[in-house]
Amino acid sequence: MNKIKATAIAHPNIALIKYWGKRNDELKIPTVSSISVTLDNLYTKTTVEFNEKFEEDKFSLNDKTVTGGVVLKRVIELLDLIRKHSKKNQFAKVVSENNFPDAAGLASSSSAFAALTMAGCNAIGYGINKKEMSIIARQGSGSACRSIFGGFVEWKKGKKDDGTDSFAEQIADEKHWEDFRIIVLIVNPKEKKIKSTEGMKISVNSSELYEAWIKASENDAGKIKQYLLEKNLTETGKIAEQNCLRMHSVMISSDPSLIYWNPETVTLIDKIQAMQSNGLDLHFTIDAGPNIKIICQEKDVEKILNCLEQAPFIHDFVVCSPGKGAEIVDDHLF
Ligand code: DP6
Repeated sequence: MNKIKATAIAHPNIALIKYWGKRNDELKIPTVSSISVTLDNLYTKTTVEFNEKFEEDKFSLNDKTVTGGVVLKRVIELLDLIRKHSKKNQFAKVVSENNFPDAAGLASSSSAFAALTMAGCNAIGYGINKKEMSIIARQGSGSACRSIFGGFVEWKKGKKDDGTDSFAEQIADEKHWEDFRIIVLIVNPKEKKIKSTEGMKISVNSSELYEAWIKASENDAGKIKQYLLEKNLTETGKIAEQNCLRMHSVMISSDPSLIYWNPETVTLIDKIQAMQSNGLDLHFTIDAGPNIKIICQEKDVEKILNCLEQAPFIHDFVVCSPGKGAEIVDDHLF
């Protein structure tokens, strides 16, 4: 019997310089380069088995079989891509688990498609390097190409039409800046209304601020890299915060308007700004959801959490350090 199985763990990443829009929707080629940090503590673990006896692809997430819908479609499309590249033609069983809520603006698709790509390529015996894996993961979900690598990562937008030069590269590994912290505050673990894929299409087609966003983003990406290498929290955080607010300006100015924040998000921004005025070196970033991620240093985590104690609407929080890239592990999920 020809049966091959592999398991990978990948961590989500949080963009400091955001990706919001594609120049090729099908190949997921972005309009701008983006820069992220891969997080430890949060993860997706995925086991893939290809088997000539299987009659269709099967996928389960967090102990639930997924029988239809866009998520299953995207998983099958990624498996098809792996089959096409490896020139092998077996169906797969995919079992996946996250240790954090899906689709709450926590970039769960980044760890999901990075883990699926790495486990899938290994299970089918398709030996490729991380750059090539990043190109495959990108086609599952753009941000996933960054989670193949650990630490601080740049996804270069590339120039070619076929997307072969649009992949992620490590700027500095997870040990480079050991006291860098991201505190993920979960204010609303429910699924977001308009998913990123749909939302960014709307923005590209309708926001008058979109061209200005591209220009400012290139500038932000150039500057932040140097500050990351210098471990300059104040400047890194300032640029990340501005870049995030510009992305949300693009979202809000889209037609229909995309407002991912809720009242708690705004209350938290207000609290963070008050802490900044009191001299604390902290900054925030927000993705396509209401949750806020605080960028700070280890020495300030406790003070920040104490200041946030009077915010009863925070359901949960996770303190993360820069984490490792996707990797193969031995213990399978089935
Ligand atoms: C706001 O990678 O989820 O988190 O490529 O369509 O799957 P698709 O989108 P996705 O978008 C992430 C958008 C973001 C910003 C970022 O992570 O850079």
